[in-house]
Amino acid sequence: MELEKNRLIDSYKRRLDYLRISITDRCNLNCLYCNPLSTETKLLHKEILRYEEILRIARIGVHLGITKIRVTGGEPLARKGCCDFLQQLGEIDGLKDISLTTNGVLLNEHIDGIHAAGVKRLNISLDSLNRDKYHQITGHDVFDRVWANIQLALARGFSPIKLNMVVQSGINDDEIRELARLSLNHPLHVRFIEQMPIGKPPAKTAPPVLVPAIRACVESLGELIPVTKAATDGPADRYRLRGGKGEIGFISPVSNHFCSRCNRLRLTSDGRLLTCLLSDISEDIKTPLRRGLLDNDLAAVFLRAVGRKPFSHPEALMPSQQPEQMVSIGG
Ligand code: 5AD
Repeated sequence: MELEKNRLIDSYKRRLDYLRISITDRCNLNCLYCNPLSTETKLLHKEILRYEEILRIARIGVHLGITKIRVTGGEPLARKGCCDFLQQLGEIDGLKDISLTTNGVLLNEHIDGIHAAGVKRLNISLDSLNRDKYHQITGHDVFDRVWANIQLALARGFSPIKLNMVVQSGINDDEIRELARLSLNHPLHVRFIEQMPIGKPPAKTAPPVLVPAIRACVESLGELIPVTKAATDGPADRYRLRGGKGEIGFISPVSNHFCSRCNRLRLTSDGRLLTCLLSDISEDIKTPLRRGLLDNDLAAVFLRAVGRKPFSHPEALMPSQQPEQMVSIGG
């Protein structure tokens, strides 16, 4: 491949080195804030990129300067062959970091394969520690299983393991302290995320709980000590509760968006390079790929997408600004 390296710099001089790949739009849960079972039709098998197609796009991306890839869904572990895919992804020269976002339901079935593929960093969605509440939020009575799988992942030495809690007004905001407390006794990174206005009511209508309120709640457990950000860090503001083994993170897509330091591109499961989670500006890379275009031409699609990346999405996300269904782009 004769591609020029490190060319993924957008019009605002941001270096895009992080690619999030959604490998499926299907999920085995149906969370209120994401809502995969809505009326939207699912993609057909032939519309979804095959693994070898994703790998080719990933290789081109890495050649152009991507160093970090996160695999998401839908639920990535629900797609057959996910671990073999992760293994092959891990073999791409120049890729420094692979991580996985999962709801944890199928983790026990795949943990060896994920580990063998060299994935060390896991993000697991965990919106409640209460079995009934978890059932209410996700539509499935699988809290015990997910919790056991988090223990399993800890025992296998995955690190960091980040637990994502989307704080939902009137639904799980009474559990912020309990979730935060997990970071005291376990090396878990508990991350509180403001709910973006996606999904079905009441998610759409209830005003979101914002980071200052979430933070005040966590601080009632003890002092929050800032953790210095690493260059590879995402948008979370990181802290440690005094004496805690793990960390606390706050992610504020609604109250204080982090567009100016956005380093991301997304590949959707139907083969589009998406430039912003909350904008529909995308470049179709599947069609040229299936037409047999060469790597250089596909690299040009990357560069076009990068060139079209907007500086930011609107200041405040209003419920009317509906991004695509989260389930098809993986958060
Ligand atoms: N608001 C905020 N975060 C969301 N995610 C999915 N939907 C939303 C939303 N509406 C994020 C969560 C989840 C991951 C898969 O995507 O962090 O754990």
